Amino acid sequence: MRLFLCGLQVLLLLLSHQLSAQSPHPPPPTNASSLDSLLQDYSFRAFLRRPRPRTGILYDAAATVPPDLTGIKLSAMRLRSGSLRRRGVPSLKEFSIPKGVIVKPYVTRLVFVYQNLANFSRLYYPPLSGYDYVAPVVGLLAYDAKNLSAVNLPELEITASKDPIRIDFSDDLEPIPQGGGSVQCVSFDSKGKASFRDSVPPGNACETERQGRFSVVVKSVASAPSPSPAPPPPEKEKKKRSESNSRTWITVGSVLGGLVLLGLLMFLVLRCRSYKKRERMKEMERAGETGEALRMTQVGETRAPTATTTRTQPVLETEYAA
Ligand SMILES: *[C@@H]1O[C@H](CO)[C@@H](O)[C@H](O)[C@H]1NC(C)=O
Ligand SMILES: *[C@@H]1O[C@H](CO)[C@@H](O)[C@H](O)[C@H]1NC(C)=O
Ligand SMILES: *[C@@H]1O[C@H](CO)[C@@H](O)[C@H](O)[C@H]1NC(C)=O
Repeated sequence: MRLFLCGLQVLLLLLSHQLSAQSPHPPPPTNASSLDSLLQDYSFRAFLRRPRPRTGILYDAAATVPPDLTGIKLSAMRLRSGSLRRRGVPSLKEFSIPKGVIVKPYVTRLVFVYQNLANFSRLYYPPLSGYDYVAPVVGLLAYDAKNLSAVNLPELEITASKDPIRIDFSDDLEPIPQGGGSVQCVSFDSKGKASFRDSVPPGNACETERQGRFSVVVKSVASAPSPSPAPPPPEKEKKKRSESNSRTWITVGSVLGGLVLLGLLMFLVLRCRSYKKRERMKEMERAGETGEALRMTQVGETRAPTATTTRTQPVLETEYAA
């Protein structure tokens, strides 16, 4: 019976493991807003991996990004709203945040999530027709820091009430094509709506009063018939990549799952064995006890142990009384 129960336990564990192994690798986000949600989740994990995350420190979260999105740079910084307003953040990657930035709705602490979409920029923010990117899309988004395990958080609104926030692309600006038009800054709001603004010297920097995603574009050079030949190939390539990616994941998952299962099986077999051994020991102890058992004597209504050579036989007090 016990063996049967042990067997059943093993079977159930096997089954539950099989079920959990079948849950598929999550597909890469299909649009910019679901990418933002995903990056919020992954950037917050950079804090959870540390025993005591500090405020005002930019933690790199690129290592937490799933393999489908390798290349995207991601960092996060936790700040008190008060300190943000009083001091700003002089240097957060391309961004310089001046004093006087207000967060709405008010939160005690916020997290700035910095994203640099690198070669995924064109995939998630397809170039507007007639324009070419000359820099990656970089984003600065703010979220409530109250719960660092929270997912699907709404974006906070940040507003630069004095000087604008500056975005310096000078380190990642691609060569500007000869004969291209003027360099312009483009920004995307949370719904993906683009707006343009003139870049400012030096180094074609961009300015903004709000959070968002930013890049630098130039008017495409003359080749009018195909204004944006870039987007389709990455799409296909990405699909193929993610397919082969998920295939390797399935293989790796199966191998790992098998190993875990083997370990589990051995553990359970050992446990069953030691359980049986313990039971046998107990039985032996019990047998030992009964072998040397004290003689039980009926005293009134109860049975009490008595040694063979008791001087006084146990008697109930009531018997005296009677
Ligand atoms: C983005 O994709 C998610 C699921 O992947 C979907 O729920 C959402 O509606 C999409 N948003 C837009 C703006 O298309
Ligand atoms: C982006 O670049 C990384 C290497 O930096 C590469 O592994 C990845 O496949 C590229 N992704 C796309 C969509 O081009
Ligand atoms: C934080 O968010 C997670 C995920 O949404 C949730 O499960 C958890 O209960 C939240 N914790 C608090 C303290 O609100």
